[in-house]
Amino acid sequence: MEKIVIEGKTKLKGEVTISGAKNAAVAILPATILVNGVCTIDNIPDISDIKIYCDILEKIGVKIKKIEKNTLQIDTRNITSVEAPLDLTSKFRASYYLTGALLGRCKHAIVGMPGGCKLGARPMDQHIKAFEALGAKVETEQGKIEVKAKKLKGNSIYLDIVSVGATINAMLSAVLADGLSTIENAAKEPHIVDLANFLNKMGANIIGAGTDRIRIQGVKELKNEGTYSVVPDQIEAGTFMLAAVATRGDITIKNCITKHLEPITAKIIEMGAEVEDLGGDAIRVSCAKRPNKANVKTLPYPGFPTDLQPQMGVVMAIANGTSVISESIWDSRFQYAEELNKMGAKITANGKVAVFEGVDKLVGAPVFASDLRAGAALVIAGIVAEGTTQVYNVQHIDRGYENIEEKFAKLGAKITRVKEI
Ligand code: EPZ
Repeated sequence: MEKIVIEGKTKLKGEVTISGAKNAAVAILPATILVNGVCTIDNIPDISDIKIYCDILEKIGVKIKKIEKNTLQIDTRNITSVEAPLDLTSKFRASYYLTGALLGRCKHAIVGMPGGCKLGARPMDQHIKAFEALGAKVETEQGKIEVKAKKLKGNSIYLDIVSVGATINAMLSAVLADGLSTIENAAKEPHIVDLANFLNKMGANIIGAGTDRIRIQGVKELKNEGTYSVVPDQIEAGTFMLAAVATRGDITIKNCITKHLEPITAKIIEMGAEVEDLGGDAIRVSCAKRPNKANVKTLPYPGFPTDLQPQMGVVMAIANGTSVISESIWDSRFQYAEELNKMGAKITANGKVAVFEGVDKLVGAPVFASDLRAGAALVIAGIVAEGTTQVYNVQHIDRGYENIEEKFAKLGAKITRVKEI
């Protein structure tokens, strides 16, 4: 086991380059199953969720060659099994995309129930609704989901709630179905658009991704072999934007899509930060004074992302005045509040609402990451705080951030990773 140790009170300054988006890559990797051929995928983040995904894909016959650190060549011509084992699928959430991808290609999938961050109830009823709408029979028992169809037929799928995962699974299972499918009340996140771009490049016929109505005209096969580059990670970019504000630093964030960052940009400007769009793919964020209080409600894209809520919580913990966060996506995303309180924050979390009474300073302490984004928030808090912070459970952080301590160290943070004794 490892921990991250931070000597704090550093104003972060300099440039950071954003990696490819975790939540796009974990959808595109299984989507390659729909392509009966060889794809080269570039800008894949070097994170543990991707390593586990590759292990699962190899177990079902996919051949994967690492061409470079962030480039994989994926050969899906010979799928040997439609069963993905529970011991691997339970390690992360996005394993549930294997269900849609295997159903689409093989008309049969047996996939162990997914794991992932413990953020409250994470049901799959909307995914199941989509599979059934296309004609599949679904059974969930003994910790796995089995979906089977003689053939898949396009249909209208109306999602009761906006779900990223259900939108992606509906897309994956509809791409090779007969006829037209429409997904109404679809999620609009950048990774949905990125998946549609990848599939279209491989020969799919998807329009409307990024709106709440996605139309998928089924095609017989996907076979355009080629290279695709994963979109930059909106959440990683937002993490560094919020780190700049929390530390009253000045960071230029490269390889990002500024449009995707608008919900964060608007909020941090309201809190007193300066944001400069440097054109192309870079943005500069600085904050010369203590940030102002603000209120945030997390919402599906283009609302303020839940995956940046804990990092925003650090900014609010040291802001001038009292701020409130209402979490509308997950039941249990304030587990980091107790850890920040160990560092001197004054946060009262009650269910899906937390009140942040801003304090002058945080003080280093041993803290425990409960999940991926909580872990990133605690790292930022450690850089803000006086003294030494030790962040435990770093395996959560490694699931979604490539080289987190190297990137922060390059910005001036005194941060190291050490083996726990
Ligand atoms: C994705 O999770 C992301 N994960 C999460 O990121 C992110 O927090 C979430 O979307 C919201 O943006 C991946 O992309 C791998 P949902 P997902 O289906 O797809 C309810 C991170 O830190 N729901 O959009 O699982 C659900 O309980 C991770 O990178 C149902 O009720 O989220 C939640 O309240 C954490 N029934 C809401 O919908 C369903 O069938 C949104 O969930 C599906 C979901």
